[in-house]
Amino acid sequence: MTIKVCIFDAYGTLFDVTAAARTAAEQPGQGKLAEVWPTLAADWRAKQLEYSWLRAVTGDYVSFWQVTQDGLDWSMEKAGLDDPELRELLLALYWELAAYREVPMMLATLKAKGLSCAILSNGSPDMLEGAVDHSGIGLYLDDVLSVEDVGIFKPARAVYDMVGARFGCKPDEVLFCSSNGWDAAGAASYGFNTVWVNRMGLPMDRLMAKPTHVLPDLTTIPELV
Ligand code: LAC
Repeated sequence: MTIKVCIFDAYGTLFDVTAAARTAAEQPGQGKLAEVWPTLAADWRAKQLEYSWLRAVTGDYVSFWQVTQDGLDWSMEKAGLDDPELRELLLALYWELAAYREVPMMLATLKAKGLSCAILSNGSPDMLEGAVDHSGIGLYLDDVLSVEDVGIFKPARAVYDMVGARFGCKPDEVLFCSSNGWDAAGAASYGFNTVWVNRMGLPMDRLMAKPTHVLPDLTTIPELV
């Protein structure tokens, strides 16, 4: 089997989703946030994902930008942070999330090997454009695919279908990389070769299928293709 296309999840895989709360907490006058930001960041991410899955189950699709705001509002209320300016700051920072350190070199190496590279994300197209532009990785990407085009979130199979439709490849010609265990499981069940990027040393999810590879970060992805 020859890999022709490398597909990356965006949030948590290429872009550090904790960076928004961490960066806001470093700003002057954010004493309360400085105390609670790790919990806020974790709750925000958990609620964002939970809402995406529940809306996929019920068919009540809204954009990922909407579930990102809904998850933040829940998490700020839980943390006792009633601060509209902080809310705006956190949302603005979400459009400028930093890419993980190894990402530009890893993508440049894959492109030099002649592979097609793209993002496949729950993210809304404008959110993804913001993060890609801010991190300067756009020159390495052949496309940025958003679930907005199919109106349902991962791990629905209709989302993974977008890869074959765009690149004209078979599932076993794809290497799909995600730091989300549930996304790696969904992609593996679909038939992609998969890498679970287990940045936090978490246990394997008990789901539909196991990923082909487990790596601590994205550095060695080019060695797999
Ligand atoms: C994404 C989220 C799920 O980028 O991380 O699709």
